[in-house]
Amino acid sequence: MIKTFIDDKDLLNWQEKVSEVHKKINDKTGEGSEFLGWVDLPINYDREEFERIKLVAEKIKNNSQILVVIGIGGSYLGSKAVIEALGNDSKVKILFAGNNLSSKYLKNILKQIEGKEVSLNVISKSGTTTEPALVFRVLREWMENKYGQKANERIYATTDKEKGVLKNLATKKGYETFVVPNDIGGRYSVLTAVGLLPIAVAGINIDELMNGAKQAMINFDEENILKNEAYKYAAARNIYYNSGKLVEILANYEPSLHYLSEWWKQLFGESEGKNKKGIFPASVDLTTDLHSMGQFIQDGNRILFETVLNIEEDKENLVINEEENDSDGLNFLAGNTLDFVNKKAMEGTIQAHIDGGTSNIIINLPRLDEYNLGYLLYFWQKACAMSGYLLGVNPFDQPGVEVYKKNMFKLLGKTS
Ligand code: PA5
Repeated sequence: MIKTFIDDKDLLNWQEKVSEVHKKINDKTGEGSEFLGWVDLPINYDREEFERIKLVAEKIKNNSQILVVIGIGGSYLGSKAVIEALGNDSKVKILFAGNNLSSKYLKNILKQIEGKEVSLNVISKSGTTTEPALVFRVLREWMENKYGQKANERIYATTDKEKGVLKNLATKKGYETFVVPNDIGGRYSVLTAVGLLPIAVAGINIDELMNGAKQAMINFDEENILKNEAYKYAAARNIYYNSGKLVEILANYEPSLHYLSEWWKQLFGESEGKNKKGIFPASVDLTTDLHSMGQFIQDGNRILFETVLNIEEDKENLVINEEENDSDGLNFLAGNTLDFVNKKAMEGTIQAHIDGGTSNIIINLPRLDEYNLGYLLYFWQKACAMSGYLLGVNPFDQPGVEVYKKNMFKLLGKTS
């Protein structure tokens, strides 16, 4: 799955530290260990809720043309990433709101839902995050104007099991609720109801997603760094970081993976960027960005390393045809698939970037389907926990996020 271009003996220098962290994760003795619920989630999830997610997804598919998912950060990026990557197979259009404070954006959502049958899934672990709370107020009013009392049967709240403003509101209004487990932070929550309900509405097989994650859970519970690819990736990142490579660029060659990179950026950025430490996670969509950021990656400041996500098998099989007079000079490609050309672009680029001094890590995924995506999501979660601990930070808190909120509330004159 993963190729690091780093010698085994250099990776083995990290074995002792990796073993320490491995024990910390398994014994739940590291900093932030109260947020390790995601580790055994693929075998230890709430079966009753999981089946209820499928039932509610069917109900939404039967009575709605649009589902608006309201949430920010970990409360939307996971489902957005999976739905974009695998495609929305159902008739329900899924819109994401509450992830910004733009009135233009919200007006556009209101325009799109006008005259349509709509359901809402409002997602907030804390229940107090300003962006989704404010947007939910607007959309709740819209739903109540359209459906009256019946609006409550079309609003689903995913939040804390017991406490918080959203939980209280849901109880008062009688919304059906789903739980963000106490021991799972937002950016590790894609395989809880947070991600699974919107994903199921998109017609994506959530059993297969969990099966892939379960296999990853088994494979990446291995102490030996040479046998555990998540730990290999974590150590490789730290080796590059210690050699002055302060930025990791995640590169894909498939535009539908754009939001997977956004999810990955949140996972690693929020987990590692603290105490004045951390690898800055960036991303590019290739080959598109070879014609913009490609210059910097090839030739700019040598602070970068690149991780390429390679999807090995292409389902589309789009073949390039021969043209009689070869007016564009491209007949030398005739008979090949477009994906064959894409792969050659990737191979050529990796070599060029390595030659230019940008080190590479390659993650090979056999194909883009539920099972493999579940596997990949878990791979990155486990790697992130290991990498953060190796870096010497608590990978499960986000104290820095509070600073802007404090300033914003002061400027807005919030008193309590
Ligand atoms: O990873 C995190 O914890 C954050 O990104 C949260 O997901 C984000 O701030 C949204 O928080 P909440 O779900 O409480 O509204």
